[in-house]
Amino acid sequence: MKKDYINGLSDRIGQQVRVAGWVQARRDMGKIIFIDLRDSTGLLQVVFPPTDRGLLEQANRLRPEYVISVVGRLNERPEKMRNPKLPMGHVELAAESLEILNESETPPFEVDQDTRSVNEELRLKYRYLDLRSDRMARNIRLRDRTVFFIRQWLRERSFVEVETPILTKGTPEGAREYLVPSRLHAGKFYVLPQSPQQFKQLLMVAGLERYFQIPRCFRDEDQRGDRQPEFTQLDLEISFVDQEEEVMGLIEELMVALVGSVTPEKRILQKPFPRLTYAEAMEKYGSDKPDLRQDQNDQDELAFLWVTDFPLFEHSETENKLVSVHHPFTSPKDEDLGLLDKEPAKVRAKAYDLVLNGYEVGGGSIRIHERGLQDRIFRILGLEEEEIAQRFGHMLEAFTYGAPPHGGIAPGIDRLVMILAGEPNIREVMAFPKTGDARDPMMGAPSPMPRSQLKEVHIRPEAE
Ligand code: AMO
Repeated sequence: MKKDYINGLSDRIGQQVRVAGWVQARRDMGKIIFIDLRDSTGLLQVVFPPTDRGLLEQANRLRPEYVISVVGRLNERPEKMRNPKLPMGHVELAAESLEILNESETPPFEVDQDTRSVNEELRLKYRYLDLRSDRMARNIRLRDRTVFFIRQWLRERSFVEVETPILTKGTPEGAREYLVPSRLHAGKFYVLPQSPQQFKQLLMVAGLERYFQIPRCFRDEDQRGDRQPEFTQLDLEISFVDQEEEVMGLIEELMVALVGSVTPEKRILQKPFPRLTYAEAMEKYGSDKPDLRQDQNDQDELAFLWVTDFPLFEHSETENKLVSVHHPFTSPKDEDLGLLDKEPAKVRAKAYDLVLNGYEVGGGSIRIHERGLQDRIFRILGLEEEEIAQRFGHMLEAFTYGAPPHGGIAPGIDRLVMILAGEPNIREVMAFPKTGDARDPMMGAPSPMPRSQLKEVHIRPEAE
């Protein structure tokens, strides 16, 4: 069955075509039946004329979301009957034959309308229906265009895409980690990466110079509208950079080009993006991710800015020690190196956040590439020699084999697309997100495991 896609019908007026898709709506007008047919590219009005009784009877069986294929002649609609809101609103298909490919139960909510007001648990349970709605389908396509644009833009600038492991070891990115028990090594666990941070730095040691990846990251943290347990970053690293500006300039260029390509209707308020130090942002706005939009109700305003010079360390909220504000691989500012031992809390970092409309959409830093300095930072963070060797020995060792200066960043794809789509949370731009309490109501994850499977990975069920 070769079908014609609805969005490609413009130049087929007067010809016979075969379309296939889902019944979005049916209107009975006495002896004529109209169907709005939806496929992945658009909507088309199909007319079942009164002259063919058999065909009309068949069309009478059609209900919303039935899957059909229709052959007919594509006609221009009379001037008065055109629908200017639809790309194919100027044509209609005069049906000649109809095939019902599959029937459908009545969906638990209407998918021919915006589903935003529908109970979210229900939307997620029937996500495959939710994704049929126009807004969700548009969001998924915007995300696709965004990722495609980024990939192409970076490859044109000599970046190499590399996949890094999902089954790995802990990464100190600040959140709780997801663990995967090992079957072959009793009592041992893999950890899902919070980000590819260490691998991308090791790729710089490997001589790649310009790496990127669009990886899935995993963090077991409390959910918010802009947080999910698994999410996607544009992860990027460059060698032979030692100034923040070199990474920020590149990302700024990318963001301007991206917006121009995928959402040309949006206006970037200030170019170049304003730059504020952390201290300035806190003093002026009381926030390290201020919303600099002039009109927060204007969907088309994009207020990017950079926040720089974050403190390298902060006091832990739970323990009496210092923790990294970004991560422990972040380089101190050259002029603050002298403060490291005496007043570490005053040391500023070569770290930068990309902020958009009040959201942190990306964070990065120039890294440490010298073993001695990295070792000192671990000690200031209160790590004992043994722990340093056990958790980060591979990084320290790699730094002794000719590690170039390097730095990078990781914008969050979900947050970026959320803002470009004008959506209030990242679930609206993810095909299969989790609920606020990290469940997937459609698949039923997480779920209990059979005893035998637990035993295989050396886990004793709690009740035993
Ligand atoms: P960071 O931890 O700042 O940096 O994360 C970078 C960006 O990832 C996005 N993000 C999230 N998006 C959705 N759900 C979450 N739970 C979530 N957590 C983070 C945000 C954030 O700005 N390895 C470093 C980057 C680097 O230094 O190059 C890192 O992961 O948009």
